Amino acid sequence: MRTLQVDLGDRSYPIFIGPGLVGKSGLLARWIVSTQVMVVTNETIAPLYLDAVLEMLQGFAVESVILPDGESYKTLDIMAGIFDALIEKRFNRNATLVALGGGVVGDIAGFAAACYQRGIAFVQVPTTLLAQVDSSVGGKTGVNHPRGKNMIGAFYQPLCVIADTDTLKTLDDRQLRAGIAEVIKYGLIRDPEFFVWLEENMEALLDRDAEALAFAIERSCRNKANVVAEDEREAGVRATLNLGHTFGHAIETGAGYGKYLHGEAVAVGICLAADLSRRLGWITGSEVDRIIALLQRAGLPVQPPAEMRVEDYLEIMAVDKKNVDGEIRLILLERIGKAALPQSVAIDQLKATLNEYGCVLK
Ligand SMILES: NC(=O)c1ccc[n+]([C@@H]2O[C@H](COP(=O)([O-])OP(=O)(O)OC[C@H]3O[C@@H](n4cnc5c(N)ncnc54)[C@H](O)[C@@H]3O)[C@@H](O)[C@H]2O)c1
Ligand SMILES: [Zn+2]
Repeated sequence: MRTLQVDLGDRSYPIFIGPGLVGKSGLLARWIVSTQVMVVTNETIAPLYLDAVLEMLQGFAVESVILPDGESYKTLDIMAGIFDALIEKRFNRNATLVALGGGVVGDIAGFAAACYQRGIAFVQVPTTLLAQVDSSVGGKTGVNHPRGKNMIGAFYQPLCVIADTDTLKTLDDRQLRAGIAEVIKYGLIRDPEFFVWLEENMEALLDRDAEALAFAIERSCRNKANVVAEDEREAGVRATLNLGHTFGHAIETGAGYGKYLHGEAVAVGICLAADLSRRLGWITGSEVDRIIALLQRAGLPVQPPAEMRVEDYLEIMAVDKKNVDGEIRLILLERIGKAALPQSVAIDQLKATLNEYGCVLK
């Protein structure tokens, strides 16, 4: 088992990475302060892993909430169901909430933990690659609004993260590839050696080679943990983790939640951000080619949805959280391995990139 620490003073916490962690006795129980534990998961993950998690919680008063599966259920309404269960079972402030699942479950359950009685303890047990390398680390929690992704939420750190790499064996290929988009992102924004490693080891990752996966997960978590330790509340460098995400969120929202997986939308967003970076004279055309080639080898989409028009992007991007004073701000690349802080981008340049990718004005 590999252990990493997210350094956040008195809210520091460990990330455990390795095979066989779900079901391992002692690993989860030692973080729990009272007897009450609520496991939040979904209808897909429950039959696979809920029993193993319950086994880790013998001797506790455990309840579980099983959510419907999908990004379209990442809503305030669905979150209210968790509060109903907590209140009905008379859970108190010392209770612990365990999020068992991908990023959707982790984001909803984490936000519920942040809100219930103004905050109860919570543990993340991420079961997708995307959740293991990204969403379970760093304390961003929340739900979507029909007009914007992750618009309602809180920063709320877990007590620990338990990333069992064996759980990835049941993940379908498309989901695995979506997680790889975020892995590639770390190479692009701050870890050029890791980008080269990914160029050399993409096939091993896609084949789910255990060593390659464990290395990529640890390296990704280390990158994320370092960024979060430096800038927990996104006053500066943390925003670089959003490379490709402003375009990506526009695609997720514009195409309808659930049509593009988050990682797929981010992959397209990275291509658009790379094109814009080249247009502004930051990165070279050959670097853009390398980026697109790696995303393609990962089996990720590199073209935006045909039905989305320039105005659709502009309208949705106008409500992005990084924007200030009505300007659209984006994360751009200075080179492979270095992202810049959010930059205001001229609408004309933005339109030029969207046009390049086949998006037209109505
Ligand atoms: N909080 C953050 O910092 C952060 C960062 C990145 C992404 N996110 C959010 O994460 C979400 C995407 O997360 P995701 O990609 O994990 O999607 P997801 O949670 O929807 O999971 C993907 C699918 O895989 C299924 N699944 C999960 N684990 C499985 C397993 N081990 N075996 C088989 N099936 C399994 C799920 O039920 C679901 O159908 C988005 O809502 C995104 O906004 C949050
Ligand atoms: Zn993301």
